[in-house]
Amino acid sequence: MNDDNRRTLIARAMAARARAYAPYSKYHVGAALRAASGKVYDGANVENAVYPAGICAERTALVKAVSEGERKFEAIAIATSNGGSPCGVCRQMLSEFGLDLIVLVVDDKGALVHETTLRDLLPRAFGPKDLE
Ligand code: THU
Repeated sequence: MNDDNRRTLIARAMAARARAYAPYSKYHVGAALRAASGKVYDGANVENAVYPAGICAERTALVKAVSEGERKFEAIAIATSNGGSPCGVCRQMLSEFGLDLIVLVVDDKGALVHETTLRDLLPRAFGPKDLE
């Protein structure tokens, strides 16, 4: 992924964060997922009065992408107020489509807090290979 694509991905995650619906936690999260096709799918967290029914930004973006036919992904940028890392459920959902995914976590100013891969975030992942 070149610098331009990285900047775009981060900008898309921050823009998505502005659309978060998080009246309960007030923790706004935006995510932008770059598919191998070059298309970027973004998402925000969407909470609910029935708290567990809410969904994280990363899964919103993933579900949008997969339901549009995407199956291969290069990178995800995640924007939070404090550089919070993706939750376990999101790590698992993303891992279904490959562990080489680059993960960029940025703060509310777009500054990179950490860069890693899904493989590092989810060691010894349970995945499709385990069900063959
Ligand atoms: N949240 C995300 O959107 N992504 C994460 O990886 C961490 C948590 C959301 C879920 C909930 O709406 C709020 O942040 C507080 O947990």
